[in-house]
Amino acid sequence: MTLKGLLLAGGTGSRLRPLTYTGAKQLIPVANRPILFYAVDAMVEAGIEDIGVITGETGEEIRAKLGSGNAFGCRFTYIPQPAPLGLAHAVKIAGTYLGQDPFLMFLGDNLLRSGLKPLVDRFASGQYAASILLTEVDDPRQFGVAVVEGGRVVRLVEKPADPPSHWALVGAYCFGPEIHEVVATLQPSGRGEYEITDAIQTLIDRERVVDATFVQGWWKDTGRPQDVIEANRLMLEDVPMSMQGTVDQASEIVGRVQLGRGSRVEHSTIRGPVVIGENVHILHSYIGPYTAIGDGVIIEETELENSVILPESRISKVPERIDQSLIGRGAVVQGGHKRPRAVRLVLGDQSRVDL
Ligand code: TTP
Repeated sequence: MTLKGLLLAGGTGSRLRPLTYTGAKQLIPVANRPILFYAVDAMVEAGIEDIGVITGETGEEIRAKLGSGNAFGCRFTYIPQPAPLGLAHAVKIAGTYLGQDPFLMFLGDNLLRSGLKPLVDRFASGQYAASILLTEVDDPRQFGVAVVEGGRVVRLVEKPADPPSHWALVGAYCFGPEIHEVVATLQPSGRGEYEITDAIQTLIDRERVVDATFVQGWWKDTGRPQDVIEANRLMLEDVPMSMQGTVDQASEIVGRVQLGRGSRVEHSTIRGPVVIGENVHILHSYIGPYTAIGDGVIIEETELENSVILPESRISKVPERIDQSLIGRGAVVQGGHKRPRAVRLVLGDQSRVDL
């Protein structure tokens, strides 16, 4: 069975503001690579060659990064969504593109360690109207939640106040063509979105078989800043060592470190796992584990760990260690002012600074 793909790269990204004021959340890098690229790789690895990409306000940027699909070994068809009206709405507007073909829908901000092949293989092995992927979570109230009996999904609820189980829906779903009939009749939920959980529940009400597979390995939805930092940590667990830049005699590199072309490390310690992009300059600094530093960043006289630093940022003379931070493209963090001191801030709307 050959499936088409439906990759969701629209949405609002409100929980990742202010980064999402200037860019798509799916293009935020983990281990120096846009989250969306891992999603495409996972689809291609599962045997999918034709992928419809749902885009929103950031459509142009998404298109520019993904291109035709050649670089990934697939073909993209871009499907602009006029407003982020929900996952079932994305299926609805992709109806013409998908036709009667079975398809895999994947959220472009989700990362799965074991990929999508187990889900696709499972869907292809039976006569299912849908196959969904589940994982056990401590607090299911923020998720779509499934009740499973004998390997079949018997009930689904979106963000329940009183969860009927601990099985949360992961952002990957396989569907047969009947889903199109269902989404056509769907009404928006209380929060004004066309919910995919309602659509799947309708399939169950029609007595169709909805199958559940359970995630092996980790799964990460990168909706919030702490999720991006955590996803970066998980990805860096697998990063191979590679040294293309230069390290002076006064510096020390410990553990798995990637240093990109044109990058220089001087009078510094880097303790992996760490990835450093191209043309980065690190001077009199300490870079600790689980840190990813983008191209063209300058870091001097600073200690930094467990953080994601986007390209072209400059961090200088910060007196305290920077930990668990997500720093946007071209940001400037400047310390080195003598105490006692005043705090001088120029911050955009909805910025957040913990001093
Ligand atoms: P969400 O994380 O549920 O929504 P969001 O991106 O709007 O973020 P926030 O809640 O912080 O405002 O979306 C999951 C994925 O699906 C994400 O990659 C965006 C995408 N999406 C669409 O493409 N269209 C939509 O209508 C919705 C709701 C999401």
